[in-house]
Amino acid sequence: MSKIQYSNDGNIKHLLTIEGLQEELIYKIFDLAESFLNVGNREIKNVPLLRGKTICNLFFENSTRTRTTFEIAAKRLSADVINLDIDSSSQSKGESIFDTVDNLISMGADIFVVRHPEPGMPELLAKHVGGNAHIINAGDGNHAHPTQGLLDTFTIKKYKNRFDNLSVAIIGDIKHSRVARSEIHALTTLGVPDIRLIGPTDLMPTDMSKINLKIFESMDDGLKNVDVIMMLRIQKERMIGAIIPEEGEYSEKYGLRKKHLLLAKKDAIVMHPGPMNRGIEIDSDVADGQQSVILSQVTFGIAIRMAVMSMLIGKNI
Ligand code: CP
Repeated sequence: MSKIQYSNDGNIKHLLTIEGLQEELIYKIFDLAESFLNVGNREIKNVPLLRGKTICNLFFENSTRTRTTFEIAAKRLSADVINLDIDSSSQSKGESIFDTVDNLISMGADIFVVRHPEPGMPELLAKHVGGNAHIINAGDGNHAHPTQGLLDTFTIKKYKNRFDNLSVAIIGDIKHSRVARSEIHALTTLGVPDIRLIGPTDLMPTDMSKINLKIFESMDDGLKNVDVIMMLRIQKERMIGAIIPEEGEYSEKYGLRKKHLLLAKKDAIVMHPGPMNRGIEIDSDVADGQQSVILSQVTFGIAIRMAVMSMLIGKNI
């Protein structure tokens, strides 16, 4: 099965990855998101687009932003939302995720938003459910986090208007980051000519050699004249068997400080997908500073997730 499955109307059936997603579809999601941006500013913050539909959040890993913004997005589309509490569900009695999903489909679930530590689990679920439901990958191991990649590039578009003249630096633990992978695929498809990865050699990806990426070990070299600075945290939970860098030393070499902003373009934006470790990969005065768009990323995430869910169901505003 190709990772991208299309419905008869040319829209996608499931959102499992950004890899292979056509530029035209990404822009369609951006246009839809743009049309949803204002819903959050209305007195009554919803539209009836997904009334009668049921969205199930299945989070097998912790989350603040993704889970909550998917729930808000679904409610803004007037859908019913189920947040399955995995710890108190029958998963704890040995039920398989496939049986859980089958049961929820029998209860009328239309879309499953799935976060899982195992790379590829959303794809397996998409194969399993066939045409009976839609699957959205909300992060699977170090593989992909497609809505994060979409909301990040949407944020870049909002601040920079275009992609074909940008230099984007992604800094930190790229090897273990599903966000970085989705981000790199989205930036590449959207035509960003200069994508830089900055970090220790041990934390560089080994699976992206086909993509034109510039690798830097030094912040001072990699940040020169960039338009976008995207910080990542060290993902210790995925560093099984790897050498975890010593925090103080890592922060000294790869923590973003005010002085680094002077290397980038004057109007460079600072991004972080969250959760942030203040004082480690980013100083508070940068995270909360004028160039930071970190909280805009979260707000735009709601519109992007509304766009993705309504596209899967085949509804446009
Ligand atoms: N960016 C992101 O995925 O954050 P959460 O883990 O809080 O969902």
